[in-house]
This record gives sequence, structure tokens and C-alpha cells, in this order.
Amino acid sequence: MSAGADGSGGPAVAARSGEGSPGEDGFVPSALGTREHWDAVYERELRTFQEYGDTGEIWFGEESMNRLIRWMQKRKIPLDASVLDIGTGNGVFLVELAKFGFSNITGIDYSPSAIQLSGSITEKEGLSNIKLKVEDFLNLSTQLSGFHICIDKGTFDAISLNPDNAVEKRKQYVKSLSRVLKVKGFFLITSCNWTKEELLNEFSEGWSAVAGFWLPAALTSWAQAIFPLQPPE
Ligand SMILES: C[S@@+](CC[C@H](N)C(=O)[O-])C[C@H]1O[C@@H](n2cnc3c(N)ncnc32)[C@H](O)[C@@H]1O
Repeated sequence: MSAGADGSGGPAVAARSGEGSPGEDGFVPSALGTREHWDAVYERELRTFQEYGDTGEIWFGEESMNRLIRWMQKRKIPLDASVLDIGTGNGVFLVELAKFGFSNITGIDYSPSAIQLSGSITEKEGLSNIKLKVEDFLNLSTQLSGFHICIDKGTFDAISLNPDNAVEKRKQYVKSLSRVLKVKGFFLITSCNWTKEELLNEFSEGWSAVAGFWLPAALTSWAQAIFPLQPPE
């Protein structure tokens, strides 16, 4: 298990200063925004898990998960609250949530290999009640809705880098979030590409109320934010 591709527990989906020309939104389009990239990543990680039992990358490091769990604990989020992890990857955060006692947790990812990997990891941990599903968050195929907590660790960052009309995809993300998050639910996002002000701006459109709680990030290069969001009724 490794903590962040840059070896520091920090993220590696940053793309405001990479190679190539930034689009009008300031992002440099990248393969990190494509499904092909993530399929290849998780196919490789799945093989590594099968061969060596290594669960793979922990985006933003262990502490980023602990910090979110501490916040939920302090906020007295009930352990039976429904939690959705958007773009769950290897599902390691779901494992942490389940070990802490959360009993109604769902992970989705558009990469089938990611869901296969997270399924293998949760099975090895003996956590049979975690729901996992292959889903494109920008094109939800089922009636996923009513989540009290929606978590995003690096997924909105990846979507922001899609070479094919990322601006539209970000708008679709906000629409999908409105559909799945309960009124007065919480959206917990960890990002390495967006500042606090930019996130507030991006997620305020179409929502009736936004107020952000900001967690002090151990690293200054990324933001970890918790929004109590109220989707339009
Ligand atoms: C940087 S990784 C983070 C994975 C995981 N959240 C973590 O913290 O380890 C981004 C994840 O978002 C997923 N993803 C990107 N776009 C998606 C979409 N439209 N729908 C579902 N998952 C998506 C990728 O497959 C990948 O697992």
C-alpha cells in the first residue's frame, strides 16, 4: 500500500502546472481524466493485489481518511447514515468507514477493474455488507439517491482533466450530486486542483445553500472541504 503517487501522501492528479496548454478553465487536459487511464491503473493494481496482496495507492494519504472520519464522529453522523463514495478506486476508504462502524456504505466507480479490486479487498477484510457498483457518476444508470453523505477523494479532480469538454462534465457532476445527495446532506471533497474559493464557486450553482467547513490540510498543496449542501428541491 502506498500513500500518494508523489510519495509524500500527497496527490498526483494535479494538472494546473503540467505539460501542455491549459484550456479556458486553466486546466491542462490529461489522460488522468479518461476511463482508459483508470481501467489500465486498476487492471494493474488488481493483478498486484492478486499476486502480492498489496491494496495499492492511498490518494492523499491515510491522514486524509482519518480526518474525514474524525469530522463525522465529531458531527455525530449516525453510524447507519447512508454514505456514497464517488469514484471509490480500490475502496480503501470504504474499508476504513466500515471498520469504524458505518453500516450503510456504497462505493461506485466507472472502472470495472476498480470495483473488482475493491470487492476483493473488502472480501479479504471480511466486510460483506459494503455495496459496490460499476457506475459512471456522470451518467448514472440506476436510481441511486438519498445519501446522507457523499464523499469524493480525487474523483472531481480527475473529471476536471477530461480532454473532452471538462467544463460540461463538471456541470454534469454537480447535477448528479444533486440527484444522489439528500437535502441537508453533506458533501466531503478532497482535491488537489481546486482552491477553497473555486470549489465554493463551482458547487454553489443550482444549490440553495452552501456553507463550507474547511479542514486544515497537512499539506498546503491540496484542499479538504466539507460542504453541508442543500440540493434544489
Ligand atoms: C484519483 S482516483 C481516486 C480513487 C479513490 N477515491 C481514492 O481516494 O483512492 C479517481 C477515481 O475516480 C474514478 N472516476 C473518474 N471519473 C469517474 C466517473 N465519471 N464515474 C465514476 N468514477 C470515476 C476513477 O476510476 C478513479 O477510481
